[in-house]
Amino acid sequence: MGVGHSRWATHGIPSEENSHPHFDCKGNFLVVHNGIIENYQELKNELKQKGHGFKSDTDTEIIPHLIENFAELGFEEAVKKAVGKLKGRYAIVALNRNSDKMIGVRRGSPLIVGVKNGVKDSDKREFFLASDIPAFLDHTNNVMYLDDEEMVVIDKNERSIKFHNLERREDVEKRLINIGWDAGQAEKNGFEHFMLKEIMEQKDTIMRALNQDVKSIGSMAEKINNAFGTFFTGCGTAGNVCLAGEYIFSKVAGKHINFIVSSEFPNYHHFLTDKTLLIAISQSGETADVLEAIEAAKKKRVKIMSLVNVMGSSLDRKSDYSFLIKAGPEKAVASTKAATSQLALITLLAYACAGKLNEGRRLLIETASKVNDMLNPRYEKHIRRLAEKIYKKDSMYIIGRSLNYPMALESAIKIQEVSYIHAQGFAGGELKHGPLALIDKGTPCIALVAEDEVKDDVISNAMEIKSRGGCIIGVAPENNEVFDYWIKVPDVGDASPIVNIIPVQILAYHLAVLRGCNPDYPKNLAKSVTVK
Ligand code: F6R
Repeated sequence: MGVGHSRWATHGIPSEENSHPHFDCKGNFLVVHNGIIENYQELKNELKQKGHGFKSDTDTEIIPHLIENFAELGFEEAVKKAVGKLKGRYAIVALNRNSDKMIGVRRGSPLIVGVKNGVKDSDKREFFLASDIPAFLDHTNNVMYLDDEEMVVIDKNERSIKFHNLERREDVEKRLINIGWDAGQAEKNGFEHFMLKEIMEQKDTIMRALNQDVKSIGSMAEKINNAFGTFFTGCGTAGNVCLAGEYIFSKVAGKHINFIVSSEFPNYHHFLTDKTLLIAISQSGETADVLEAIEAAKKKRVKIMSLVNVMGSSLDRKSDYSFLIKAGPEKAVASTKAATSQLALITLLAYACAGKLNEGRRLLIETASKVNDMLNPRYEKHIRRLAEKIYKKDSMYIIGRSLNYPMALESAIKIQEVSYIHAQGFAGGELKHGPLALIDKGTPCIALVAEDEVKDDVISNAMEIKSRGGCIIGVAPENNEVFDYWIKVPDVGDASPIVNIIPVQILAYHLAVLRGCNPDYPKNLAKSVTVK
């Protein structure tokens, strides 16, 4: 039995003292923890008064001390009593030096059990507890999911596993689920970084996202059409996909859907009724802000539809209707293939809502095939050459309009998070209201262009930037005299966000590598953001 943990710092700086696991006074109980204990200060003061000493600035350290406090009840009961005192969202794993048991508890943050060698082969059974499946995918793809308020007790000697619901105070049975991913999918397969591997996988993943049951697409479209008030919610990249979805639904299906970023969604509760539909988009299905948004919606009896990548994730299980985007494990922190799969599925749903499912499917299959053509070594080299010209710049700006405005925002996230270059995306029309003041001689500005009704306006905005010294990088189906550097993308009509974001993903990747940054592990960020 052993534990290890990489913590995204919430309390105290990243340091040895603040690293997990944390121990009780005698070093008998140890705990690793994901999430935030909201009442830790109050509990810490109580424990200090009882004579407990603390070595770290973390909220986590109170948990082993609380277990120690109840130690005479036995390990399992002591953990139950200790977590009964905690407020907040968390997943913990606890060990006791004097016991052969490992105990996990989940409330709000993900905790998944991996089971190796199948349930019947009890002699050889091995168990893994992790917050995300790729952590143990090298060993097994058979999983059991803990729900909130559940505890799992793994006994090393008996090779047994037991689940207990802490609210109902009863043991519960769990199904063993094969998630269908294999370890090879979570390997680099010859690529230097996961990010580049995942960008290249878009040759297949977009097509996989489209492979949905026609009947369920039809019935989801009907639910969207019949809802009275529909919202999109998501965070970061998934949020940008939601905003693109807002435009796509408006343009393709004539349907008004509001995008509200998940961390703000609870503030919109006044507008929710039992006829509202909330469409949540998330790669991991574990983002705390998204889960809070759907909890706020559920309180108003809103129906939840979700687009997720991780089967069995909290969002998948808590949704009334859920679509898997089938992108396979996404390991790099920067979301790439999941984003284009989400875009493909949202576009398909918009066409289905407009009663034009076949037309939408044809467009997206053609888009997937054009993405396959784009992602060749020559294309990548062309973008790498651009990265070599601009990688020492401090700032970059990206403009787009209509469907490509959200992609300007997404381009900025991609560049910021992996290369640490200051990047900002704007709606082309907003430039004159402030951002133009930021343009200096040679400032790189990307214009995302499609063959659509706003093309001329974006080109005019690019001209405005150029007139003030900016260097224009055009991502567009056709070259234009305003472009200093042209990256060609196919003309795919309403699917343009998919093809326009891909070259920027490649550019962000090469900017990171040229600046000596590891694009797979950006500083200060986590793949699944399981804290508020
Ligand atoms: C950026 C990125 C993040 C995520 C966000 C939501 O590249 O990966 O902005 O998109 O944290 O994550 P999910 O989609 O897992 O809910």
